[in-house]
Amino acid sequence: MTSATDRKLKVALFGLGRLGAIRANILVNLQPDIELVAASDPKPGAEQWAAQNLPPTVQFFADPVECLEKGGAEAVLISTATATHAPLVLKALDLGLHVMCEKPIAVDVETTKKVVEKAKSRPELKFLVPFCRRYDDSYRSLKKLVEAGELGEIHAVDSTCLDQQDPTGFFVTFSAQSGGIFVDMGVHDIDIARYYLDVTKGLSNPKKQVNKVFALGQTAVYTDLNKYGDADNGFALVEFANGKLLTFHLGRTLTNGFEGATRVFGTKGSAVVNGNSFVNRVEVRDQHGVRTATTPDAFVLYEKSFVNDLKEFATSILHDKPLTLTPDDALEAAKIATALQYSFRKGVPVYFDEEGDPIME
Ligand SMILES: NC(=O)c1ccc[n+]([C@@H]2O[C@H](COP(=O)([O-])OP(=O)(O)OC[C@H]3O[C@@H](n4cnc5c(N)ncnc54)[C@H](O)[C@@H]3O)[C@@H](O)[C@H]2O)c1
Repeated sequence: MTSATDRKLKVALFGLGRLGAIRANILVNLQPDIELVAASDPKPGAEQWAAQNLPPTVQFFADPVECLEKGGAEAVLISTATATHAPLVLKALDLGLHVMCEKPIAVDVETTKKVVEKAKSRPELKFLVPFCRRYDDSYRSLKKLVEAGELGEIHAVDSTCLDQQDPTGFFVTFSAQSGGIFVDMGVHDIDIARYYLDVTKGLSNPKKQVNKVFALGQTAVYTDLNKYGDADNGFALVEFANGKLLTFHLGRTLTNGFEGATRVFGTKGSAVVNGNSFVNRVEVRDQHGVRTATTPDAFVLYEKSFVNDLKEFATSILHDKPLTLTPDDALEAAKIATALQYSFRKGVPVYFDEEGDPIME
């Protein structure tokens, strides 16, 4: 008989896009505790891609619901366009499947709440929204310094998430289903700030973690984003209810590569992760000065995170271990991200009520 410790977790993957294709490779080649049993994506060409890139034992389904019902998985990884996550997650939980869903859960707070409530109502099922910076070795090292008190009391975080320009215009079509730059990208900066700032410390009302947020944005390169109420550069201010602060800059217009840095400010010192997103340690020294190559995208910078999070997910199911992120972490980050998107679109600050919800008409 196979014991829980030597069996593999049967996983079905939904979405074979930019991240889904990377996830497929990780699931097949880099997760000894996982067996990819099924994959689904309704787009034309997905079946051929699966036939060419996945082992023949992986069943392909153009219809995601059929894949949920007949794929033979006990856990699913939802790597589809953000606007399509919620129905898949809800159905998967109804079918008694463990769920890992790429960030963010949804493009609005109401849907996010519905999903989180459903996940919490099935505590026997694992549910993970894996924010990639939390699974990065450098961010984890900084967390240890913070927990050891080396930087004193952490009072502020300043963060960036800056994509390289994409001449194919991917970011414009992506925006139709992403929820906008603050919801899609900013949620990473918000989550990592919550990881370092003790945002529940000293609260008189534990439900209310945030006082107010404000966002501004530009369409410096991708003017077509205007039709989605989106920006290619976004700037955000978040005031937590205990006075801690987060500022961040998001962008889709760098020309050198991808940069994602986080600086943590404490009363005894500050620390920065990825101050420069070097792809390696080579420096070219010539008539132009000193140059290094930048990581091309987030998939390269956080390469190991996309392996580490799946390992944690599989281990949590196979060995019944707790996950390091809770559904509420995803919900709290989503509330702030959605409020910022609204603030940018309407040009107003967004205040949070005593229930901890952003006040958006
Ligand atoms: N760092 C990170 O954590 C990170 C990085 C990139 C993307 N993401 C998230 O991953 C998700 C996918 O992003 P992407 O860049 O790969 O997008 P993408 O547009 O490249 O791919 C999405 C894929 O999902 C497929 N799809 C749409 N609806 C589907 C359904 N109902 N069932 C199955 N497949 C469906 C589409 O055909 C497409 O192939 C998004 O939610 C995004 O926010 C997270």
